[in-house]
Amino acid sequence: MSRFRMPAAVAALGAGLLFTCVPAASAQSAAPLRALADRAHVRIGTAVDMTALADDSTYRATTGREFSSVTAENVMKWEAVEPQRGAYDWTKADALVRFARQHGQAVRGHTLVWHNQLPGWLTSGVADGSIGAAELRGILRRHIIAEVGHFKGRIHQWDVVNEVFDDDGSPRDSIWLRTLGPSYIADAFRWAHAADPGAKLFLNDYNVEGVNAKSTAYYELARTLRAQGVAVQGFGVQGHLGIQYGFPGDVAGNLARFEELGMETAFTEVDVRMVLPADAAKRATQAAYFRGLLDACLATRHCTSFTVWGYTDRYSWVPGVFTGQGAATLLDEDFTPKPAYAAVRDGLAAGRRAVSGA
Ligand code: G3I
Repeated sequence: MSRFRMPAAVAALGAGLLFTCVPAASAQSAAPLRALADRAHVRIGTAVDMTALADDSTYRATTGREFSSVTAENVMKWEAVEPQRGAYDWTKADALVRFARQHGQAVRGHTLVWHNQLPGWLTSGVADGSIGAAELRGILRRHIIAEVGHFKGRIHQWDVVNEVFDDDGSPRDSIWLRTLGPSYIADAFRWAHAADPGAKLFLNDYNVEGVNAKSTAYYELARTLRAQGVAVQGFGVQGHLGIQYGFPGDVAGNLARFEELGMETAFTEVDVRMVLPADAAKRATQAAYFRGLLDACLATRHCTSFTVWGYTDRYSWVPGVFTGQGAATLLDEDFTPKPAYAAVRDGLAAGRRAVSGA
């Protein structure tokens, strides 16, 4: 699959930003990431696999100890929360919110409108024509109001629409675009804002780390919607990288232009995969990539959270999707920290003053 493939040409490695990992001061090595993140005024987050959280005590303890923000990897998606039409199941999502509360963690809500992981009753109804445009719009509205309303006051950032552009910057084909037209995006934000005015509402996508056609499409969308008074308050950069594709160019500049619109930014799903087997050189490059994204976040005043999409290779979506690739997270399958963990730790310890222009 080449879903997250970066153009090779973006290997402009931001000299001075990358490959500058130095050992952390020894006093800091024992501090969990979240303690260092607090000092850097950023949330350090992870996607959480709820099956692992229930079954694996090491995973549970590590998730609670290291992170100050959590995102449901799957259990807040539409297929999970409304498997039968009108019959909601919040059990697993509620369990995550409870875990977060017990551990003093913020929760990112992921995700309200997506083309993927939709319930079968919805996709088949649209496909066979039994659900038409007016009904679909009502279904989307009810979904957003039900889900955002259910978690009102407990989610600090919602990924309202996820992955709505193709890499060339054109609107992604989906049941939403095809049936409702592009206005579904503004509608989704309006409904989400009405259901929880306190939550920060985000656009979210992959391959938008640097300045490119896709991130520019988001910039224009955000600018237009905000000019219309729509509460589009954040831009979420997923950060699914692969070392074989090079590091994206001008990440900090990309975040800065969203900030100039008055928005927050966040890295929402960071992982850095490689062609297996892993070796020391690949792990060093991976560490530099994690650090490069983190430094861009810390260089941007309103980059408020840095979330990894899983933190141990024991539970990572990557090998199941990209055959022959993996080792994409901070810890190996035995929860042993890799150089990438040290890079993130050191970057957080260096804080926002580490990057010139911060
Ligand atoms: O729930 C079923 C379970 O009942 C069944 O037994 C099992 C058998 O394989 O499958 C389970 O569903 C899986 C689901 O994750 C929950 O575990 C799906 O097969 C699997 O495809 C699904 O993958 C998720 C993927 O989104 C789906 O697109 C990954 O875990 C999740 O990490 C990934 O996350 C996405 C973000 O939401 C958006 N950005 C990209 C990112 C990576 O693809």
